[in-house]
Amino acid sequence: MDYLNKLLFGKDFKWGVSTAAFQIEGACDADGKGKSIWDTFTAQKGKIFSGQTAGIACDFYNNYKADIDLIKKLNIPNFRFSISWTRVLPNGTGEINQAGIDYYNQVIDYCLSQGIEPWVTIYHWDLPQVLEDQGGWTNRKVVDWFISYTAICAQHFGDRVKYWMVMNEPSVFSGAGYFFGIHAPGRTGLKNFLPAIHHIVLSLAAGAKKLRELLPEAEIGTTFSCSHIEPRSDSKRDIKAANVADALVNRLFIEPVLGLGYPMSEIPVLKGLEKYFQPGDEQNMSFDFDFIGLQNYTREIIKYSFFTPYIQASQVKAKDRNVPITAMGWEVYPPAIYHVIKKFDAYPQIRKILITENGAAFPDQVIEGEVDDLRRAEYLQTHLQQILKAKQEGCKVDGYFVWTLTDNFEWAEGYHPRFGLIYVDFDTQERIVKSSGKWLAGFLKE
Ligand code: BGC
Repeated sequence: MDYLNKLLFGKDFKWGVSTAAFQIEGACDADGKGKSIWDTFTAQKGKIFSGQTAGIACDFYNNYKADIDLIKKLNIPNFRFSISWTRVLPNGTGEINQAGIDYYNQVIDYCLSQGIEPWVTIYHWDLPQVLEDQGGWTNRKVVDWFISYTAICAQHFGDRVKYWMVMNEPSVFSGAGYFFGIHAPGRTGLKNFLPAIHHIVLSLAAGAKKLRELLPEAEIGTTFSCSHIEPRSDSKRDIKAANVADALVNRLFIEPVLGLGYPMSEIPVLKGLEKYFQPGDEQNMSFDFDFIGLQNYTREIIKYSFFTPYIQASQVKAKDRNVPITAMGWEVYPPAIYHVIKKFDAYPQIRKILITENGAAFPDQVIEGEVDDLRRAEYLQTHLQQILKAKQEGCKVDGYFVWTLTDNFEWAEGYHPRFGLIYVDFDTQERIVKSSGKWLAGFLKE
């Protein structure tokens, strides 16, 4: 492996680790917290691998100090976490739960006392169930609900939090939650997906504007999932299918938010979005973000598929391609991150790119008290080399956050895909820093 040194990335490059409230906190009904769509979804039969729930998860709610101490031990200077909407507003709107506000104040204060910069995601998928009962993201009122929730976060935490991300990966929570029904709230079909898309875009821009109004000094970003997409062959049909998949996976949310509108010409079914448009929406869909968070894990190979409705495109799964894969079945392909940086670097509307998630799940094993996850360490190193290559070619990429700190609740997959730099024994809550975590600690050492 080529020599990798953090100084090559420049002194202003942001190094961090990312997490999400529902995946780590547990304490799902503690101290006045209301139910989110994920509390409801995980309680339903057959939704989550092996019927697992996130009632305890990593118990971060009770043990946040010990986990923040570990972040410090790993020499990681920036910690990204999300706020649970129903901890601060149990009913989604209306009355504040002071215990929830106090909790996040303690987390923020503890980070700062340890010299760790808090980076807050306002929404990482855990919509209040009360709001879902009124239509959730399909109800246009969600824009106002989201603005009020964002304002509360800004008012209570904005004096100490400088870095904000409005939402995490809209395409995943809308696609998996409102089209395929494999994530909360488990809705399916275009009749749910299309209104959800439009209301998410409006909320994203409106939330960002609210943050800017209340916190003019803050750095405001938001995060998008993106995959490097390649056609299976150079046949016209495969190339067209890959373009359509790219529009859906990579452009559907980012382009309207950048003021470029929805990619309707590539995906004609998106014309159905017009039904949800109201006068003025076009101007209210975009925001000039200080940074865009890109989250990349893999590449997708796409082929023409007559039978796939709306897009006539489907994936050639990594397991059928004889390539190295992770425990999620995703191909390990480090150049993917280079290509996505290059792709989005070319958008003049993007000021700055941060990689706000990248990482891998592998079947880790504890042997004599150690977890020697060489594949994960190699995954991180080879991805960093690709980021460095993009940076050295002049791309505006300025940060890298590993997904994730500890093994945690991986949504519908439950606890079996382990993504952490730190191993968690979910019976005892014991933590073991993996070899990848030790490598990162050495790499980040001053
Ligand atoms: C999400 C995380 C998730 C990770 C790995 C991202 O899509 O933001 O919540 O755990 O990828 O699947």
